Amino acid sequence: MFYDKVKKSADYIRERISVVPETAIILGSGLGGIVDIMEDKVVIPYSEIPEFPQSTVAGHAGNLVIGKIGNKVIAAMQGRFHFYEGFSPKEITHPVYVMKLLGTKNLIVTNAAGGANRNFKPGDLMIIDNYINFLAINPLIGENDERLGPRFPDMSEPYAPEIVEKAIESAEKLGIDYKRGVYALFNGPCYESAAEIRAFIALGADAVGMSTVPETIAGNHAGLRVFGVSCITNMATGIATVKHSHEEVVRIANEASEKLCAWMKDILVNI
Ligand code: HPA
Repeated sequence: MFYDKVKKSADYIRERISVVPETAIILGSGLGGIVDIMEDKVVIPYSEIPEFPQSTVAGHAGNLVIGKIGNKVIAAMQGRFHFYEGFSPKEITHPVYVMKLLGTKNLIVTNAAGGANRNFKPGDLMIIDNYINFLAINPLIGENDERLGPRFPDMSEPYAPEIVEKAIESAEKLGIDYKRGVYALFNGPCYESAAEIRAFIALGADAVGMSTVPETIAGNHAGLRVFGVSCITNMATGIATVKHSHEEVVRIANEASEKLCAWMKDILVNI
């Protein structure tokens, strides 16, 4: 049963740590730098956690890092799971429910994304205001376990408005330029066609990527406050003047990582 698997992972992690992480943060491609500013770290490789899925993508390390930023205890996931790797929707969202069972209250999701909004440029950071699940696969399909969340969760505010507000205050205080927009999930692993991007733009997408939406849905289902930031690493197909490469995505994300870390640090201590 899904609940038992999640509980097995959570029980193991609980034995390895002495404090409950208040906020969990899922680190997207090239955005792992936040662990460098964490203190009193406990690093738990996913391979040691019973029932935990294992990462397969370059740029995603595969560790759960628990430690402090300021006076806040954070659980950072270096490496997430994607549909294109062949993971099931339940496997992708497994870590979110592990966090819920640990007692975590907030979930921050980050990702590298293609810019579909022509006002964006590579290196921009976008607060995710909303999502479009173009995959039409929902991680909540199947038997619902009420211990994890309700059968029909509300999704009118997938990203907690009070955290968005704090993030904006924080960006303004630190002089960090930010964008806001809608993140559209495309299954990958190929990049989108130019026709798909034109279609997605017409439907309201500002950024496109291959992750984040399942975790957002699960986080809301589990009653966590969710907040998301996309790092625009490239312009989407048809807007971009060059062909995409994963190396370039990781390079731009790494460059933006310092700015994102400073911002995250301030957000984390203020929520
Ligand atoms: N499309 C989908 N996913 C991505 C992109 C993109 O252009 N850039 C980074 N992740």
